[in-house]
Amino acid sequence: MTIKVAINGFGTIGKRVADAVDAQTDMEIVGVTKTGPSFGCDLAVKKGFPLYCTFDDSSKISAFADAGYSCSGGLSDLLSVADVVVDCSPGKLGAENLEKYKRAGIKYIFQGGEKHALTGQSYTSSANHSDNIGVDGTRVVSCNTTGLSRTLVPLFDYCGSLKVECTMIRRAADPGDSKKGPINAIAPVLKVPSHHGPDVMTVKPEIEINSLAVAVPTTIMHVHAIVADLPSGHGLSTESIIQMWKETPRVIVMNGVNNRITTTAEVMEMARDIGRKWGDLHEIFVWEDGISLQGDRLYYFQAIHQESDVIPENVDCIRALMGTEEDWKASVAKTDAAISSYYGL
Ligand SMILES: NC(=O)c1ccc[n+]([C@@H]2O[C@H](COP(=O)([O-])OP(=O)(O)OC[C@H]3O[C@@H](n4cnc5c(N)ncnc54)[C@H](OP(=O)(O)O)[C@@H]3O)[C@@H](O)[C@H]2O)c1
Repeated sequence: MTIKVAINGFGTIGKRVADAVDAQTDMEIVGVTKTGPSFGCDLAVKKGFPLYCTFDDSSKISAFADAGYSCSGGLSDLLSVADVVVDCSPGKLGAENLEKYKRAGIKYIFQGGEKHALTGQSYTSSANHSDNIGVDGTRVVSCNTTGLSRTLVPLFDYCGSLKVECTMIRRAADPGDSKKGPINAIAPVLKVPSHHGPDVMTVKPEIEINSLAVAVPTTIMHVHAIVADLPSGHGLSTESIIQMWKETPRVIVMNGVNNRITTTAEVMEMARDIGRKWGDLHEIFVWEDGISLQGDRLYYFQAIHQESDVIPENVDCIRALMGTEEDWKASVAKTDAAISSYYGL
């Protein structure tokens, strides 16, 4: 069976999810939506993805043809030929779109800009793939929450309990975004605690976690400064934690000083060297020399490529919803191998 996937919203996340789905042998893209003609439509044309309009109004659909793009119809037409829709629209449109997906009778995946309450389900591959098998719809958690889950879940699974405090140092805007800021300030998020840490509990409720967040003038990554209290008698050392994360899928651990990779700028340059499209880094980057276990308290830093760590998770999530792969590690291996082969890596 080839799973038919629709992408509603072909922006930063949507175009990446479409590429990652296109790389897989067990799923195909049946269409992507844009609100109207723009340069982003050219990518859909180049990839051979059928282009649909976000809306069903005939005037909005015909605007594509007026600009020289072939448009296959409105969102309802797209939903009628799909098994599952990955909603990559800007956050907060979820409630409106959810009704459309339910009416179409197809499965749906939202992104981290929506709240857990929208679907009552959330997803990350390592934390709760099995809870999402066969459900009608879910939400792939945000880039920050995905990043926290990648390193905290294996630690929790080893220790059996975990109390975490973290500070999210957030990029102000994506590289293609000209509207957000700050450009010359550090902006604390004055909702305390921030939603990022507690959001981990939507996929792994057993981890006790809180967070603070600040936005800084950079476009290329988030950095997390994390303090985790392990239960006494955990039996871990700094070295064994490093080894654990080196064996964790989608986590890269590198010595910053030895590799001259001490800032997010070099991490992103390394990502460009890897050769995925857009210079993406699906993995969470952990500085080996920034990890220190002192007694029962663990300190570490990690960097998150906000535009891309959630991308392979969406692919695994499709398999969970469709019930075609119950083992999260098998899905992760399949997803990542297909993406590597797609880009000739
Ligand atoms: N960017 C990140 O770093 C990041 C990371 C993780 C999760 N997320 C989440 O992913 C989701 C998408 O974010 P994004 O950064 O990809 O946004 P984006 O770059 O602004 O792209 C949004 C896309 O949705 C389309 N759109 C606009 N209104 C729509 C509507 N009413 N219905 C359907 N589509 C509509 C836009 O169409 P046009 O292209 O025609 O304008 C655009 O293609 C959000 O929930 C966000 O919180 C973002």
